[in-house]
Amino acid sequence: MADLYDRARDVLASLRAHGDEKGTERRQAPRFSITRTAELVGRTPAAIREAEKDGRLPTVERTATGRRIGYTLAEINAMRRVFGTRNWRALGDPLAIIAVQNFKGGVGKSTVSTHLAQYLAIRGYRVCLIDCDSQGSSTTMFGYVPDLDIAEEDTLYPFIRNTEMSSLAYALHETHWDGLYLVPANLKLYSAEYELAAQIARADKMLLNRLAEGIASIGQHFDVVILDPPPALGTISLTVMRAANALLVPIPPTVVDFTSTTTFLAMLHETMGVLQEQGMPVELNWLRILATRADEQKSMQRELLGVMRKLFGETMLRTVLKDSAEIDNASARLMTVYDLDGPVTSRETYQRCLTYLNAVNAEVEILIRLTWPSHIESLRGDGVI
Ligand SMILES: Nc1ncnc2c1ncn2[C@@H]1O[C@H](COP(=O)(O)OP(=O)(O)OP(=O)(O)O)[C@@H](O)[C@H]1O
Ligand SMILES: [Mg+2]
Repeated sequence: MADLYDRARDVLASLRAHGDEKGTERRQAPRFSITRTAELVGRTPAAIREAEKDGRLPTVERTATGRRIGYTLAEINAMRRVFGTRNWRALGDPLAIIAVQNFKGGVGKSTVSTHLAQYLAIRGYRVCLIDCDSQGSSTTMFGYVPDLDIAEEDTLYPFIRNTEMSSLAYALHETHWDGLYLVPANLKLYSAEYELAAQIARADKMLLNRLAEGIASIGQHFDVVILDPPPALGTISLTVMRAANALLVPIPPTVVDFTSTTTFLAMLHETMGVLQEQGMPVELNWLRILATRADEQKSMQRELLGVMRKLFGETMLRTVLKDSAEIDNASARLMTVYDLDGPVTSRETYQRCLTYLNAVNAEVEILIRLTWPSHIESLRGDGVI
């Protein structure tokens, strides 16, 4: 077993490619064209050029032929600051803490978590993605090989087990996306499951609050925290439930996934009841179901999607995250689709995939903003409510 593990780890290390650099040290997020930049900043391209000319914005890098090479997210965020179009939450608005949760494995939790985190960072929010799963899938998508590049001290683990620690700030890792921080995971987090369970059995149930406490210790620096939990109802998942104030449940429209999600909902209900009895209520601002990995070519899946829509009604997001070769291809490169600077398959597949990723994430963005009193007027102005 140990030998197999070592060999598999070596494969991952070579997939990481390009020498010894890991994660953010090597990666650069794609640049944005002036048109897209203007859209993201909320000003016209002319206004941006004007500000560059009169010195309110720094001049941008150009190619030898004088063309702009595109703007980085950091430059876009600097523009938002200059133009006053930053969309951060106000002081009185609650921090959004979203758990992408389903106890079933392989339903797309990590895929949804990483793409949502990067989408929100592109939109200008301050985002923290916490990988709570010892498998470290989200960590991998940021270019790390968890058991090679990440030490125990980089993860949630020390904070959860050591009640004397008062801040989770030590675990925040900058990423190649400006404004997006990652708390990475590795296999060590698996030990936390057992240790926590043992300690809780010795009547130290308040340990279930550790993740919530960790988030509170860094919350002032963020607008949104996204939690990617393991696929099981273990103690880590309990701490996730306790910390979250919103729940996004990915379900592929297959009978097996649907059945186990029904069980998940029942377990969730029961668990929330138990936590409530223990004086640790779970209070959710919203809960949504997201159909993931859907293949509408398959008649059975189309039918099941129809059933889910009827059953869950408003609780289901309108957009479906379809199965896409582009997502598979990106993850094989330890990346997300937002990391790619062009199609891996065809332009059409890539664009289609981006369209529904953006649509899913935009729906979630609105749910987040609806919980922020300071955003209500602008949502009204945009005709969203
Ligand atoms: N919409 C999609 N299209 C294509 N492939 C997808 C899609 N969503 C997820 N996948 C692939 O399915 C696999 C499992 O996805 P992911 O790791 O996100 O699931 P998970 O629920 O986090 O799994 P686990 O329960 O193990 O944590 C990955 O290889 C991922 O690339
Ligand atoms: Mg996962």
